[in-house]
Amino acid sequence: VQDALKDIISLCKRRGFIFPGSEIYDGLANTWDYGPYGVELKRNIKNLWWKKFVTSRHDVLGLDSSILLNPRVWKASGHVGNFSDPLVDCLACHERFRADQLLEEKLGEGCCAGKNFDEVHQMMVDNKIECPTCGKTDWTKPRAFNLMFQTEIGVIEGEGNKVYLRPETAQGIFVDFRNIVDNVRPRIPFGVGQIGKSFRNEITPGNFIFRTREFEQMELEFFCEPGTELDWYNFWRKYCFEWLVNDLGVKREKLRLREHAKEELSHYSNGTTDVEYEFPFGWGELWGIASRTNYDLTQHQNESKVKQEYIDPVQNKRYIPYVVEPSLGVERLLLVLLCNAYEVEKLENDERTVLHFDPKVAPVKVAVLPLVKKGKVKEKAEELYQKLLNRWNVEYDETQSIGKRYRRQDELGTPFCVTVDFDTVGEGESDPAKLGYVTVRERDSMKQELVAIDKLEAYLFEKLGC
Ligand code: GAP
Repeated sequence: VQDALKDIISLCKRRGFIFPGSEIYDGLANTWDYGPYGVELKRNIKNLWWKKFVTSRHDVLGLDSSILLNPRVWKASGHVGNFSDPLVDCLACHERFRADQLLEEKLGEGCCAGKNFDEVHQMMVDNKIECPTCGKTDWTKPRAFNLMFQTEIGVIEGEGNKVYLRPETAQGIFVDFRNIVDNVRPRIPFGVGQIGKSFRNEITPGNFIFRTREFEQMELEFFCEPGTELDWYNFWRKYCFEWLVNDLGVKREKLRLREHAKEELSHYSNGTTDVEYEFPFGWGELWGIASRTNYDLTQHQNESKVKQEYIDPVQNKRYIPYVVEPSLGVERLLLVLLCNAYEVEKLENDERTVLHFDPKVAPVKVAVLPLVKKGKVKEKAEELYQKLLNRWNVEYDETQSIGKRYRRQDELGTPFCVTVDFDTVGEGESDPAKLGYVTVRERDSMKQELVAIDKLEAYLFEKLGC
C-alpha cells in the first residue's frame, strides 16, 4: 500500500503539484513546496472552507491574527508547559523517535492517553517496541521535548526577547475574543474562523505532507452558552463530515469518526472526535473536533487579568462562553483529496493515471487543445482560451499528440478538455454540419460530445457546477 503513496508523490512532482523543498541544495528534510498546480489546489481548498465555514454562515466571522504573539499567550494556553512529546533514543543506533507514535503504531491511537513517562517507558519494554531504523528494542527513558519553534525579536518589556512561532492559529482567536465582542458585537452563539500558517518542531514528521513542521490550519472557534456545547459539538461533527463527503467528494467508506475515550480526553474537554481517513499508510487523523468548555478563555482571563465574559443582553446574564473547535490542516486535507482522487485505471489495451477531483477542487477546470498548432484552428483555440480564462483557471496545450495531451490533463485532474479541429473552423475537407462545434471530453467517462462554441461556456458552467 505504501507504493500507492510513492506513486502519488511521484505524480505530484512530475506534474508540478508538490516539490521537495530546497532541492538544489540537497533538500531540507520534510519541507515541501507547492508548485503551479499544488498552489491552485491549496487555494481552492482554503476558499471552499472559508465559504462553507465563514462567509456562507450568518453566525461566523473571519480573522487573520499574528503568527508572533506575546509569549504569555502560550503560557496561558498551556503550550509552554505541556506542548511536548515524549522522546526516546534507540540505545543501539541512537536514532530518536516519539514514544507515543511508536506505541500507537503497534497498539492503536490513544493508547498513551493519561500515561506518565515512566508508564510509557514500561509500555515500550512490555510490548518489545522495535526501533524502525535498526530493529533493536533497547530504549532510553522518554524525555519531554517542547514542540514550539523559538525565535527572537526586539526586547519586549519585562519578558526578554524570546518569542514563539504559533503552533496553532486557535489562540489568536481567543486573544481577540474581547476585541470582537466589544467592537463587532456579535450575539452568542457565534464563531470566529481563521486560516493561517502554524509551526511545530515535530520530531518525526513524515508520510509526505501528512506531518510537517510548517503547515496551514483552518480553525473555527464556535462560542456558545454553557450547557449548549454538546449540541453544537454534535452539530459541527456532522457539518464537517458532510462537507467532506457531499461537497468535496471524499469517499464515505474511507472516513470514520473516532470519538476519544474518557481517559484520552484532555482534562478540560467534555468531548473530542477525530475525523479519520484511511490513508495508504493506514487510518490517520484528518480533523480534530473538540468541545473545550471555557478553558481557553478562562486561562487568558487569569493570565491577562482582562475579563473574558460575555453579557447576554436577552437573558441579562454574564458568563465565560464555552467553545467548540473544529481544527483542520490544509495540507492534510490536500493529501486526503489526492489519495481520494488517485486512480490507475485499466483500459482495453492500455492504462491511464487519473485524478478524479471534484470540479470545485480541481486546479485546472478546462484545457483547450487545438488539433494542430497553426492556421485557423490555432487562432480559434487561442480565442476560446482567452475567453474561458475570464471565468476559470484554463490551460492551453498544443504540444504532442492529442492522446498524450488528454493523459496529461487526466493526471492534473482537469474535468474537461475542449478540442478545436478542422471541422470547428471549416478548414480542409471538413464536415459542414460540425462548423462552429468543438469536441468536449469528460475526464472520468472519457466520453466526447460536440458542443456549439456559443453554448460552450454555459455547458461547462452547468457541468462544472462552479
Ligand atoms: N487548535 C487545535 C489543534 O491545533 P491539533 O489536533 O494539534 O489541534 C489540528 O491539530 C489539525 O491540524 C490536525 O487534525 C491536522 O489536520 C493538522 N495538523 C496538526 N499538526 C500537523 C502537522 N505537523 N502537519 C500537518 N498538519 C498538522
